[in-house]
Amino acid sequence: MLCKAGWEVIGIDNDMRSWYFGPAGTTAPMVEDLLATYAKYRHVTIDIRNREAIRNLFHEERPDFIVHTAAQPSHDKAASIPYDDFDVNAGGTMNLLVAARDFCRESPFCFTSTNKVYGDRPNSLPLVELEKRYDYADGRDGIDESMSIDACLHSLFGASKASADIMCQEFGRYFNMPVGIFRGGCLTGPQHSAVELHGFLTYIVQCAVTGREYTIYGYKGKQVRDQIHCHDVARLFGEFYKNPKCGEVYNLGGGRNNSLSILETIDLLVGLGYRLRCTYKPTNRVGDHICYISDLTKIRTHFPQWRLEYDVPKIIDEIIERHMLHTVAST
Ligand SMILES: NC(=O)c1ccc[n+]([C@@H]2O[C@H](COP(=O)([O-])OP(=O)(O)OC[C@H]3O[C@@H](n4cnc5c(N)ncnc54)[C@H](O)[C@@H]3O)[C@@H](O)[C@H]2O)c1
Repeated sequence: MLCKAGWEVIGIDNDMRSWYFGPAGTTAPMVEDLLATYAKYRHVTIDIRNREAIRNLFHEERPDFIVHTAAQPSHDKAASIPYDDFDVNAGGTMNLLVAARDFCRESPFCFTSTNKVYGDRPNSLPLVELEKRYDYADGRDGIDESMSIDACLHSLFGASKASADIMCQEFGRYFNMPVGIFRGGCLTGPQHSAVELHGFLTYIVQCAVTGREYTIYGYKGKQVRDQIHCHDVARLFGEFYKNPKCGEVYNLGGGRNNSLSILETIDLLVGLGYRLRCTYKPTNRVGDHICYISDLTKIRTHFPQWRLEYDVPKIIDEIIERHMLHTVAST
């Protein structure tokens, strides 16, 4: 979005994703695409844990806008790499915040936090079991930012992101910096390097299209997530840039209209002509949400110009289209 608008953009990514998830998780092709498409895009392969390198870059460039999305992003992976998870998610975020404070304190800073900061607390809400999904028994639209993040089971990932989330809030409040904290539901899109451990929608669509088997873990496949396309995320960050707030927290997802369960996703894919091969394991992922839908009221109130442009069928169409293009290109 920024490249299209003519900005000079510096991407920081060391492709640590391929270390977390193996070669299928690499983000290298996206970087190649960006470099080939936008003359004003530059890439640096710095590790955000490298404090000196981050400070030097911020000192030299003094960016006008910072979008911090680098992370160890998997709930399940974190337990096997606890130091790396914490050093990247909490320590790396600290490095970026201090560098921003010291070299470009006025520049808006968006941090992609996660709904896992609420741990398994959303599972304590009363739920109803419907034919294809769970839903909230009290009729609420979704979960808002007043939910406690304390005294619940987070996963190590949820805890490292919660550390970063609170530190971002602190820089917003203590130093009065324009830092926005966006607690993501499912952020998705055709460029997501989906793997089983991260990137639900892209991964399940790719399984359907390629005939790969998909495993459902627990909750009878009725667990619900709200999906938001990265384009809508980027547009929201653009609104934050125009109208930044200091240390505000927002729940960010596709909201109720973009929410669906695994069973409903499978039905949608069948409707498109793709029959998914599934196995079912009754044990759910530790601390996995049964029903998580973001309440977007606060975002819509603070950024009234922002609207979701992607519904779920449009997101799925794009994922399939990109997959087909890549298959044709590689044959
Ligand atoms: N995708 C989702 O459903 C979702 C949901 C909630 C929150 N989030 C958050 O949004 C952000 C982006 O998520 P995503 O799904 O695009 O993840 P992703 O894994 O696709 O992207 C993260 C990128 O960070 C890079 N990275 C990792 N460690 C690094 C390091 N030490 N130094 C430099 N770069 C490093 C990776 O190589 C990868 O390209 C993350 O902060 C994630 O926690 C994502």
